[in-house]
Amino acid sequence: MSKLSIIILAAGAGTRMKSNLPKVLHKISGKEMLYYSIKEAKKLSDDIHIVLFNQHDLVKASMEKYFDGISFHIQDFLNLPGTGGAVMGITPKYDRVLVLNGDMPLIEAQELGKLNFASKDIPIVMTVLELQNADGYGRVIIENSNVKKIVEQKDCNEDEIKVNSANAGIYCFDKEFLLSHLPLLSNTNAQKEYYITDLVEMAINKGLSVVPVSVNEENFKGVNSKFDLSQAEVIHQNRIKKAFMANGITMRLPDTIYIEEDVEIEGDSVLENGVTLLGKTKIISSHIKTNSIVESSIIKNSDIGPMARIRPDSRVESSHIGNFVEVKKSNLFEVKAGHLSYLGDSEIDSGTNVGAGTITCNYDGVNKYKTKIGKNVFIGSDTQLVAPLEIPDNVMIAAGSTVTKNPKSGDLVLSRTPQKSLAGFFDKFFGKKGN
Ligand code: UD1
Ligand code: MG
Repeated sequence: MSKLSIIILAAGAGTRMKSNLPKVLHKISGKEMLYYSIKEAKKLSDDIHIVLFNQHDLVKASMEKYFDGISFHIQDFLNLPGTGGAVMGITPKYDRVLVLNGDMPLIEAQELGKLNFASKDIPIVMTVLELQNADGYGRVIIENSNVKKIVEQKDCNEDEIKVNSANAGIYCFDKEFLLSHLPLLSNTNAQKEYYITDLVEMAINKGLSVVPVSVNEENFKGVNSKFDLSQAEVIHQNRIKKAFMANGITMRLPDTIYIEEDVEIEGDSVLENGVTLLGKTKIISSHIKTNSIVESSIIKNSDIGPMARIRPDSRVESSHIGNFVEVKKSNLFEVKAGHLSYLGDSEIDSGTNVGAGTITCNYDGVNKYKTKIGKNVFIGSDTQLVAPLEIPDNVMIAAGSTVTKNPKSGDLVLSRTPQKSLAGFFDKFFGKKGN
């Protein structure tokens, strides 16, 4: 297959998003919309151009976090507005040029590849959606299986507005045709913009063909509003979950589960309803129970939750984490922490039991400190471990202790105040109750 250059249009303001954030930086499944366009484009091309205008520094910096080798261009938006203006001044490397919109996060490389046959005689191959209602789209007038012209909604006459063939906004051009005809565009239309779609009529007038390729509406969904964004995310989430289920991951009520783009799940893992997996999380042969959240952590051969929260940079292996346990930046190996605990900046080793209500006091208001706990430590309920602290192997900590000093292996640590019982106090305080 002949090589392609790709231009992604992302200069628009996206006013209908009603947000200060540029449209293409709104996220679905944890990544900016433009990330997905570039990711798919990279599968087809090593010559990728992105056209920016609004907050271009921010958009560029956001994408450079993920990709290199991309050319960024700033559109002369004031003098040359519109999708045609956006493409002017770019010199693509290859003979065919695919033009994409940056606000279509659901496109897939494999489907875009089907457009890769533009030539001297067919200078434009374009995507067409057959819709019940083409409201908001440019209408594609097709005669004898060839495109005759594209009319923007605002420029449609009574008959054209009723056409259900819509321009999905993605085209493959013959480079020579594109570069020689862009300078001929004019802005004599309702929006006073330079339309890329006017190139279609120019090709037809020269006796050349413009071939329509029907595409799946779901993949070419454009995002223009917060509602569109939410719908695109639902479709994207379904794709992510379907792929995991095809690999043998069990999901209970998958519609209630949220999994971000970079998450990996392996082995015979189970996700119950309401589970949220964020960032670079990796789940290996584990059971994540109802309403638990795991962010950028590794969970291996463990069970988590219900209602547990594993915060970034944790590694939990062969462990049991129960309800209302929060773990942050900690490394747990063969540990049981069944209930109501906070384990932050800690390392806990094999055979250790963390009693209900155990808290690592890792922060003194200025700095964070580490808690290191060895093997076979029994931590009684309601223990505060004031970091920095090192508990060696084989230590028992009595319930209710506040531990501030490192014990020795084999110790019982007991720091609670001795119990006092004052006989008869109840009746004196409350008066006699009952008989
Ligand atoms: C465009 C098409 C329309 C098609 C629709 C599909 C034109 C004239 N119309 O209309 O036929 O049905 O897409 O979604 O092309 N952009 C720039 N610079 C600009 C203007 C737009 O980079 O000056 C970018 C936008 O950021 C966006 C894309 O181009 O990513 C499409 O622009 P948009 O304004 O959404 O075009 P539509 O009016 O939807
Ligand atoms: Mg649009």
